[in-house]
Amino acid sequence: MIDPSLALAAVVRKATIDALGADFADVDPAVRRSDRADFQADLAMGLARRAKMAPRPIAEAIVAKIEQGDLVEKVEVAGPGFLNFTLRGSWLAEAATAALADERSGATRSEAPETIVIDYSSPNVAKEMHVGHLRSTVIGDSLARVLQFRGHEVIRQNHLGDWGTPFGMLIEHLLDVGAERAEEDLAVGELGAFYKAARAKFDADPAFTERSRRRVVSLQSGDAETLDRWRMLVEVSKKYFDSVYRKLGITMKAEDACGESFYDRRLAPLAGELEGSGKATISDGALCLFPAGFQNKEGQPLPMIVRKSDGGFGYAATDLAAIRYRLGDLGANRVLYVVGAPQSQHFAMLFEAAKALGWLAAPRRAEHVAFGSVLGTDKRMFKTRSGDTVRLVDLVDAAVERADAVIGEKNPDLEPAVRSEVARKVGVGAIKYADLSSDRIKDYVFDLERMVSFEGNTAGYAQYAYARARSIFRKAEGAKPGAIQVTEPAERALVLELLAFGGVVKLVEETLEPHRLAGYVYAVALAFTAFYEKCPILKSDVDPATRASRLALVELGSKVIARALDLLGIEVPERM
Ligand code: ARG
Repeated sequence: MIDPSLALAAVVRKATIDALGADFADVDPAVRRSDRADFQADLAMGLARRAKMAPRPIAEAIVAKIEQGDLVEKVEVAGPGFLNFTLRGSWLAEAATAALADERSGATRSEAPETIVIDYSSPNVAKEMHVGHLRSTVIGDSLARVLQFRGHEVIRQNHLGDWGTPFGMLIEHLLDVGAERAEEDLAVGELGAFYKAARAKFDADPAFTERSRRRVVSLQSGDAETLDRWRMLVEVSKKYFDSVYRKLGITMKAEDACGESFYDRRLAPLAGELEGSGKATISDGALCLFPAGFQNKEGQPLPMIVRKSDGGFGYAATDLAAIRYRLGDLGANRVLYVVGAPQSQHFAMLFEAAKALGWLAAPRRAEHVAFGSVLGTDKRMFKTRSGDTVRLVDLVDAAVERADAVIGEKNPDLEPAVRSEVARKVGVGAIKYADLSSDRIKDYVFDLERMVSFEGNTAGYAQYAYARARSIFRKAEGAKPGAIQVTEPAERALVLELLAFGGVVKLVEETLEPHRLAGYVYAVALAFTAFYEKCPILKSDVDPATRASRLALVELGSKVIARALDLLGIEVPERM
């Protein structure tokens, strides 16, 4: 076993049963890292009522039964009944050696692999991707990586907004501009301007508005020429989105696109089925579901509209068809929706409806992975100076440019080609890390300068710790990693961090919170930096066994940092 907290939990559990009796066989003691000792357990507090004893005597009784074997060097009762553990350096050294030999650095796979659908990114065709899509894309991609690493079958779904009424005006605008011009503009990412121009005409010119309305009807009825134009808009937008994904190092592929249009042909039959079964009811001419527990301010039940009174279908109907497809056709056990917090009610109603319709029952589950907004340094919604939404690609370019300047200052000798590659990794990493390191449900401030800094909880700090490790190997002149020893406090602190890797990955799988992994990377990088400072490696007075052990720790540390950053979707540079 590599994770000491799991090994320790097993020891504490056995001692608890020995001390308190077989009735306590169900205890599952939590063992946490502590600044008082290597680990701390607080189970005595929770057992007091059940054992009809004060926590302190419980803790003492448990301690009396703890075998001080290979794992535990010392255990003490502290305060009201905490158990403070110090582990044997030899056990930690052995576990670290095992982690180094393991290509997963000690992180286990799930014992019950699932099929998990992750709906993320999901931008709208012929519309610019904005910072909200950035969050969905970056958070969703990290979760996809983590869940895949845990051994799950992950199905990425890009629920593109590629259908519906806006396409009437977009196609008419396309015809006005000429297909070729439109294609050129859209290909270079001028999606915002295209959409805006169409919208402006739609609002100002009644003839255009009327044409657009008729165009929607042609689209819905499958008119060949209209569909051709529509397809062109979709294809060009998809190409553009793909170029953004490539730039950001996102694992979403073209074949993961399953947009709203995909569900169109399922909507009328679904509505018919729900109407026929009596599960949906007509209200004000619209076919509605009324999921339990949702009311408006007046206390009336809130409808989820399946079919509008004009016979059309909207966002909610499409999501009903989509969740059924994901649970049924795709066979998902778990369906995740990485979408901003403003859509919380929509998803809560969707999940309730899916339960009522019998599509979604435990152990299957659907979760809205909600996130907050991106704010400017003025703490308001993030906008450009002219008040426009900020383009995703411009942010990435700005970050890479800034990273290039910072690296040029710190390391002027780097060859230009290497430097620009490093700047790309650092700039893209900075943007992603800033997003992933804050609790996703909270808003965060987009502050480029802070993001691209190499100090504090940033991607650059962790990337630098990695690059430094690689430079040690370049300077090692044939010295090789060898058997790990854990003697110095800085070595112990580093090893304790490194052995926690698998537990953190598991925590992200459960909580769907990548910031826990980012916080972990930071803790490892800090421990790594402290270790470099306290424990010389290549200095001539270091004996060969110590040098070999420390090189092995550098290797394990750099592997864990690289893997953890990779799970966040961030690349590491060999030098910086
Ligand atoms: N296209 C939508 C938007 O930009 C997000 C779609 C999210 N996924 C879903 N299944 N509703 O807001």
